[in-house]
Amino acid sequence: MKTSWDNLEIKNTNLKNYKDTVYGNVKGWCALESVFICDFLDSIEFNKEGGLCEIGVELGRSYILYNSIIDEKYASYAVDLFYSASQDYNYSGYNLENKIDIFTENVKKYDVHRGKQTNIILADSLEYEKYYREIKNIRIFHIDGGHEVSHILNDLEFANKVINASGVIIVDDYMNSDFPSVTQGIFLYLQKYPTVVPFLSAFNKLYLCRLPFYERYLEKTKSFLQYMSETIKNPYLHPNDSYYTASINRYAMYSINEGRILKDTDFYKRNNYVQSLPTNGPS
Ligand SMILES: C[S@@+](CC[C@H](N)C(=O)[O-])C[C@H]1O[C@@H](n2cnc3c(N)ncnc32)[C@H](O)[C@@H]1O
Repeated sequence: MKTSWDNLEIKNTNLKNYKDTVYGNVKGWCALESVFICDFLDSIEFNKEGGLCEIGVELGRSYILYNSIIDEKYASYAVDLFYSASQDYNYSGYNLENKIDIFTENVKKYDVHRGKQTNIILADSLEYEKYYREIKNIRIFHIDGGHEVSHILNDLEFANKVINASGVIIVDDYMNSDFPSVTQGIFLYLQKYPTVVPFLSAFNKLYLCRLPFYERYLEKTKSFLQYMSETIKNPYLHPNDSYYTASINRYAMYSINEGRILKDTDFYKRNNYVQSLPTNGPS
């Protein structure tokens, strides 16, 4: 069935290919609509430099998506414990034993760089102190590993150390009622260290940037959401293959209101928060 989502243009040809030929071949947990959001991020002229880091790559569906917009000259990092079914005390996706092999195969077959700039880190993100110094200049940091509050606090701290000045952090399962601990972790982190701020919430994910870039990202987001709501005549009909059902209008309202409230209350200035610079890599 054709929906008005088909009228949305995908500018990045790698993402077009991902949507048409890769998404259906790599099992995973990210909604097809994230392709449109990824294309939006890629259209932003001040977010062009740097690599990808993802915690919780599993079989590679979201990793291969985000890596589609990363230039081959930048290194990308795939962090996962690759829990087998028998080790799975936490929520960790599919009930499989050989996830690292499937991930590696998927990257070789479907990743835009065929794995050339991918670095697999088989490790616990809770132990990131042991290895984060090798990770630098991150443009996109996607958090989809452990879903406990402690993981979210830890993973946001990790991300905040390695994203570059205009880098974006994406947290999966935000406001997902199956995982309230994810949302709790995000808010606890933002209260304590509001040096990164949310500028968009869409399709099960929250998007954050560093405070000095907040206004610029919000402006871009507003025009993108405007374009989306004009193009998608019936937001309740989602593209084929998507498992996610929700209205883009709800997200548009949410993101814009959230931004306005923070701005109107002058929250950041009042609290005299100072922007912390990345501790790792160029600004
Ligand atoms: C829901 S799956 C990720 C799905 C994937 N991002 C996608 O979109 O298809 C969660 C993954 O997080 C990993 N994981 C869980 N806790 C972790 C931790 N503390 N450190 C690193 N990886 C972890 C699991 O092994 C699992 O592969």
